[in-house]
Amino acid sequence: MANSEVTFIMIKPDGVQRGLIGDIICRFEKKGFFLKAMKMVQVERSFAEKHYSDLSTKSFFGSLVEYIVSGPVVAMVWQGKGVVATGRKIIGATNPAASEPGTIRGDYCIEVSRNIIHGSDAVESAQKEIALWFPDGIIDWRSANHSWIY
Ligand code: TYD
Repeated sequence: MANSEVTFIMIKPDGVQRGLIGDIICRFEKKGFFLKAMKMVQVERSFAEKHYSDLSTKSFFGSLVEYIVSGPVVAMVWQGKGVVATGRKIIGATNPAASEPGTIRGDYCIEVSRNIIHGSDAVESAQKEIALWFPDGIIDWRSANHSWIY
């Protein structure tokens, strides 16, 4: 089914601390995406290192890991047609200085090292990240049986 694409979205510690959870969920819901799974968790350093393992050689890797473990994050799985790419558009460019107004990063932050939210960059990385963050799987539930509701 075309609408079964899923992505992994994480509200980072500053997004949680600044009270932006509701706003972020609202943007994804209003767009028409479906919240498949959600949990609040404070992760260990080794877990954060695993999540960002592709960036382990970058100069900012250490501070990025420190930031992610500094408080609870909200880990979510969102579903819908094109949710990976459209989710990235809703989030905005990595560096908030370049994020368009109207995007989450464009509206709410200034520093690349505190950019509020993570979203998978490809369908394959979404699968990998969902398996890491939700190792027990997710409940397969639907808000309605009507296929026209999205
Ligand atoms: P990256 O995967 O390149 O960006 P995105 O989150 O948009 O997919 O980088 C992961 C995170 O690393 C990014 O959200 C913020 C942090 N980061 C820095 O702290 N400094 C930097 O120079 C870059 C490029 C990223």
